[in-house]
Amino acid sequence: MERLNTLFDFSIISIAIFLVAFSLRSYASPLEKTSAFFIFGDSTVDPGNNNYLQTIPENTAATKPYGQNGFFDGPTGRFSDGRVITDFIAEYAKLPLIPPYLQPSAEFTNGANFASGGAGILSETNQGLVIALQTQLKYFEEVQKTLSEKLGDEKTKELISEAVYFFSIGSNDYMGGYLGNPKMRELHPPEEYVGMVIGNLTNAIQMLYGKGARKFGFLSLSPLGCLPAFRAMKLEMTKEEGCFEEASALGLAHNNALSSVLTSLEHLLKGLKYTNSNFYNWLSDRIQNPSKFGFKEGINACCGTGPFGGIYS
Ligand SMILES: *[C@@H]1O[C@H](CO)[C@@H](O)[C@H](O)[C@H]1NC(C)=O
Repeated sequence: MERLNTLFDFSIISIAIFLVAFSLRSYASPLEKTSAFFIFGDSTVDPGNNNYLQTIPENTAATKPYGQNGFFDGPTGRFSDGRVITDFIAEYAKLPLIPPYLQPSAEFTNGANFASGGAGILSETNQGLVIALQTQLKYFEEVQKTLSEKLGDEKTKELISEAVYFFSIGSNDYMGGYLGNPKMRELHPPEEYVGMVIGNLTNAIQMLYGKGARKFGFLSLSPLGCLPAFRAMKLEMTKEEGCFEEASALGLAHNNALSSVLTSLEHLLKGLKYTNSNFYNWLSDRIQNPSKFGFKEGINACCGTGPFGGIYS
């Protein structure tokens, strides 16, 4: 992938998206076959589940500036001015938009999106305010039951084994869940904490595999310390501008641990296929060279307060 990246000036994430979408599409063509896309995650891919939760305003995206670019008819609960990554993947795979699991009347024959802004892999992360990964997995089991009733066991089994399972989650475990949580930091040194987060993610993959899932896609973590809110924190603490390296280091440690877990799971679990992204480098490149990618700005956020516009207001 690294080689392709330099050869074609393709970003790694677009390759990852391409692979996921390609894999969905290749199973979409024969008559009668449905393809499904199941999404587990946080605000990076929440399509509006948190609109149905009792939570704090920081965890919802129900008002402008969210949704202000007009792709949808106003805010939808996506933490974006328009679509989120998984909307683009679905579109590329010629699937309809994958509905938020909590949307009443949602229909799941093309999959379901369980993601929830603020959610983490550990149930302690923003507990009570989000749909933690454990609960997202329980909801998946509900969908599997519903589909069995609707399509029958045979067809559901096929759908589940040919579906793609996408994860974009973990940042909140390190931000609010660890760096913003003195108790957790006291209890666990960083390496041990990363081990817990990855251990729980591994369990999630194994659980889905046990239910018949075979194809997985992962968006890895970004250089967390370069996000506007962390730049503001660093400025306040050290009077220096720049990325908050401790946060980025956690993101990197997580990504490295995830890569090696995936390598071993591929050997351990027969028939498992996956694509992992290097979101860390992908985003770093855009932050450092925004104009190369058609952006004017790579450091400051648009719409919040604080020195870099990244504090919720
Ligand atoms: C999962 O996370 C919990 C904390 O929520 C932790 O106690 C447990 O050890 C973790 N599991 C694994 C397999 O790492």
